[in-house]
Amino acid sequence: MSNYENLSIDNQEGIVLLTINRPKALNALNGLTLKELDQAFSEDLKNDEQVKAVIITGAGDKSFVAGADIKEFLHIPAGEGGQFAKRGHDIFFAIENFPKPVIAAVNGYALGGGCELAMACHIRVASSKAKFGQPEVNLGILPGYGGTQRLTKLVGRGRAMELILTGDMIDAAEAYRIGLANQVTEPGEEVAKAREIATKIIKKAPLAIAESIKAINACETEGANGYDTECEAFGMLTASADFQEGAAAFIEKRKANFKGV
Ligand code: CAA
Repeated sequence: MSNYENLSIDNQEGIVLLTINRPKALNALNGLTLKELDQAFSEDLKNDEQVKAVIITGAGDKSFVAGADIKEFLHIPAGEGGQFAKRGHDIFFAIENFPKPVIAAVNGYALGGGCELAMACHIRVASSKAKFGQPEVNLGILPGYGGTQRLTKLVGRGRAMELILTGDMIDAAEAYRIGLANQVTEPGEEVAKAREIATKIIKKAPLAIAESIKAINACETEGANGYDTECEAFGMLTASADFQEGAAAFIEKRKANFKGV
């Protein structure tokens, strides 16, 4: 595992708590933090067999992530903004397509790139103190890390239009009501709830989880036929040893012992 400056990684029984650790900047995503997220999701956590699930949260009790680091990206040379967005896209795709479950435990502000990071995760658990929003229009830009797309897919075009065009922040109860947050907890309990969900998921067959993530994401991938992806995945899984084990365990009325093959 790499040494990180802005991330802390704590693996407890296969469930990694990844904390974005820049509390003085409300955990804003600067270049180094993005680079470390890339390293974590494209290599370190992906290749580590001891990692079964990841929970992302923010350091401190005020903010999950308050967006891309405005002070830093203000200095991007003219004409390079598109590449800046593309870099964020690639990293967030690595999270969205991560083959193990990724759960956002949103402990405070999830604004701009922070809301986009939460949306790239597979599931979002929010503290009742959390605030979500895409305030980029206040800065004269638009969401650049996939927000126009993922928010629209999660909450529908009308609500995405309203949130992005007004730049308004919404609270956790509203985020839950419109389908942006999966669950809402008392403050300070969001990581425990995320851990509870992760614990449930990692008891299932790992290949079935990875293929489910892939097939669900295919629903939203341009050019992909999600039904074909589902058929292929189903074919592959029915030939897996874990399917034999899962079916045998059902018939023998015992717990399955999945091996991930
Ligand atoms: N980038 C850089 N620094 C940030 C930051 C950000 N996105 N958000 C907060 N900070 C810093 C502040 O500058 C401040 O630092 P100093 O103490 O050195 O001045 C520190 O964090 C604490 O912030 P505030 O004093 O502003 O705290 P507050 O409680 O008064 O307000 C807040 C909290 C409402 C979240 C406010 O900080 C805020 O509006 N932040 C910006 C939110 C935003 O616009 N996010 C979108 C960024 S653009 C983006 O993300 C583009 C994209 O899609 C890729």
